[in-house]
Amino acid sequence: MTLQGKKVKALFKQAMHVIPHGVNSNFRYWGDEDTLVITRGNGAYIWDADDKRYIDYRLAFGPIILGHAYPAVVKRVADVIKEGTLFACTTPLEISLAERITRMCKVDKVRLTNTGTEATMHALRISRAYTGRERFIKFEGQYHGMVDYFMFSTASSSRRSLGSRRSPVNSPVSSGIPKGISQYVINLPFNDFERLEETIEAKWGDLAAIFVEPILGNCAGIMPKPGFLERIRELCDKYGIVMVFDEVKTGFRIANGGAQEYFNIQADLVTYAKALGNGFPIAAIAGKEEIMMTVEPGAVAHGGTYSGNVIGTAAANATLEVLETESVIDTINQRGQVLMDGINDILTESDIPHVITGIPPMFGIMLGSDQEPHDFRDYLTGDGDLYEAIGMELCHRGVMPEPSGLEPWFLCYALSDEDVTETLNVYNDSVKAAKG
Ligand SMILES: Cc1ncc(COP(=O)(O)O)c(C=O)c1O
Repeated sequence: MTLQGKKVKALFKQAMHVIPHGVNSNFRYWGDEDTLVITRGNGAYIWDADDKRYIDYRLAFGPIILGHAYPAVVKRVADVIKEGTLFACTTPLEISLAERITRMCKVDKVRLTNTGTEATMHALRISRAYTGRERFIKFEGQYHGMVDYFMFSTASSSRRSLGSRRSPVNSPVSSGIPKGISQYVINLPFNDFERLEETIEAKWGDLAAIFVEPILGNCAGIMPKPGFLERIRELCDKYGIVMVFDEVKTGFRIANGGAQEYFNIQADLVTYAKALGNGFPIAAIAGKEEIMMTVEPGAVAHGGTYSGNVIGTAAANATLEVLETESVIDTINQRGQVLMDGINDILTESDIPHVITGIPPMFGIMLGSDQEPHDFRDYLTGDGDLYEAIGMELCHRGVMPEPSGLEPWFLCYALSDEDVTETLNVYNDSVKAAKG
């Protein structure tokens, strides 16, 4: 049974004529029969072209922290754009936003950009310029955007392509990436102290950076083992490697100060995007004075025509104001905990082995196993087919997480207690239907 109603089907067909596969990001393609066309969003809901309402747990893959079309953010943007949107000069909105970010995230300096991909790309260049080294470590199942350097062993990789745990291989996730690029990246299993230590001890002289999503935002919200992020911090300090927290998903979502606050660890550089603008395009590279000041006109490049544009900076100022003045993340934590507990109970009653991963603002579910996953390889031992079958049943009934379990459930401030109750009822029905 297709997810597409009559109007969605017609619009998607139209889209296929002019847009490859009818989508503007491959991650949005759910097959020719199930890819949706959405026409509006409000609060915790989105509606498709047939006016079918969904409780939205994808939230555009994380950005919508307050709710769709959140009035305070929309109004701020609508007000400021009447006075122009782009000047190729610094604006007061950029200054106030940088001040907010430095205060909330305890970073010294901030440069703005537009997407997570641009932020991580610049963070890598800054790390290389600062250290004079070229290679970097990232972790399997982590995604840092569309830059060629990062497009290895992400959550899109198959288990077999990763090689053995003792000697992982870089698995390219796209054609079109020059072969030589692979020499610059080292992929390791997350949470593997031994692999991390031996790799750094052998290769530190070549290593510019360690990129880490502090919680696996592209792999079911898997948490770091106690001490793992701290060990990265120690090794980076010891060997002069730049520690980069990729907080594109965790930033302004798991705490006002992101993962640095949540785990009480300061990275050297941090990348933010998604929740920073509640759905408007805005991103940032931030960090320690000495490293950020590597950026220098004529010497170390950072730029972009739209960097710091009025739309994104107005939206981000308004979003962070709400985060600082209302108990947004506490509310999300309370409702999310009820949702996580309820899903846990339903799966237990249905005799489905499972583990709930992550934390309420971004949590995941592993089915088919009751062993807690600590890395991408562990997660892939679960029952992805059952997860997807339940996911599609949920979507048919108007509750929309990403049908693949790799993508966490994201929650927003606008989600109500009633929405949580409705979701749990639908989850119960969906599990029964998927089990057959
Ligand atoms: C952790 C992380 N880093 C970087 C990116 C890239 O961000 P963008 O899609 O805004 O380019 C993503 C996107 O999902 C992400 O999850």
